[in-house]
Amino acid sequence: MLRSTMIDAIGQTPLVKLRLDDKAVGSVYAKLEMMNPFGMKDRAAKQIILEAKRSGVLADGAPIMESSSGTMAMGVALVGTYLGHEVHIVTDPRIDRLTLRKLESLGCRIHIVERMSSQGWQSARLERLQELLKEYPGAFWPRQYDNPHNPLAYAQLADELLADLGRVDVLVASVGSGGSLCGTARHLLRTNPELRVVAVDSVGSVIFDQPDIPGRLQSGLGNSLVAPNVDHALVDEVHWLNDHEAFSATLDLARHEKVFAGNSSGSVYAVARWISRHVQPETNIVGIFPDRGDRYVYTFYDEAYRREKQINISETTNEPTKVPYQTVVSSWSYATVKKGERHEQAAALR
Ligand SMILES: Cc1ncc(COP(=O)(O)O)c(C=O)c1O
Repeated sequence: MLRSTMIDAIGQTPLVKLRLDDKAVGSVYAKLEMMNPFGMKDRAAKQIILEAKRSGVLADGAPIMESSSGTMAMGVALVGTYLGHEVHIVTDPRIDRLTLRKLESLGCRIHIVERMSSQGWQSARLERLQELLKEYPGAFWPRQYDNPHNPLAYAQLADELLADLGRVDVLVASVGSGGSLCGTARHLLRTNPELRVVAVDSVGSVIFDQPDIPGRLQSGLGNSLVAPNVDHALVDEVHWLNDHEAFSATLDLARHEKVFAGNSSGSVYAVARWISRHVQPETNIVGIFPDRGDRYVYTFYDEAYRREKQINISETTNEPTKVPYQTVVSSWSYATVKKGERHEQAAALR
């Protein structure tokens, strides 16, 4: 398939029907966002940067600053440097070697903060970012947590799903900034007001009113703060998986489906597979699979790491427990998200 630029190579990712097992009734389709040049966030970076250039917020040649050590950093690095901007990435010593080398090879300037500040590494990174924004007047910060162009980037993903399937009945996606789940859901709801929107989070993330567990090992999904781009009113149901369950499901995904992915894809797989057993035939369930497994070869894909962290991959729970929303959970559980009036208003609009 011919693409004229690396930016045009973002999007149009494969949608693969998973084989599942004989308990499945509905079909599960994996939207392989990991097949973007770097990962799912290439889409958000493209939309945010192109819009900032169009609106004049980002002048030609002005620098772009981002605090991230994951998929968003790679997306910003790809799009920003391709368009001739200097890209500064603020990160901390926990960054994995693979991402670091990729960022360097694209020509980014990398700032590694040396010590934590009042609220750990996250606040230390944001403080450094603020210093850089002062040092470089005219610099642009994509702000994925509250920039509306993060969720808007996924309208195209939703259109790709509709072009391939015609109808989506259930959407299953992990939540960090909220961009991918909420942006895709908002667009799909226009064609199917009955769409069931299922959020996947980690135990110990605060996004859906759970207490924070800072030591959780899963990355990508989950957060210690609630990003404004998370629109709870769009979400029907949330599932939380703990580290053992998420990593086990990710290993299962590789072994059974031959999809070598990160742990957010593994959790999405577990939830979509379970839903496929409890729906009517002909139900189209779509899961969004954000990144490849490469970054995790020295963590949960490595047996020595699992031993060190006492990750028990045989501790897989194949069935979640239904709990009332706001029950504190420690293993795979799910709840109906009811945010009162806001939820009812959104439902009425569907
Ligand atoms: C690997 C991975 N999975 C899932 C997510 C969550 O996506 P979103 O920020 O769109 O909610 C992210 C976000 O950074 C991620 O990097």
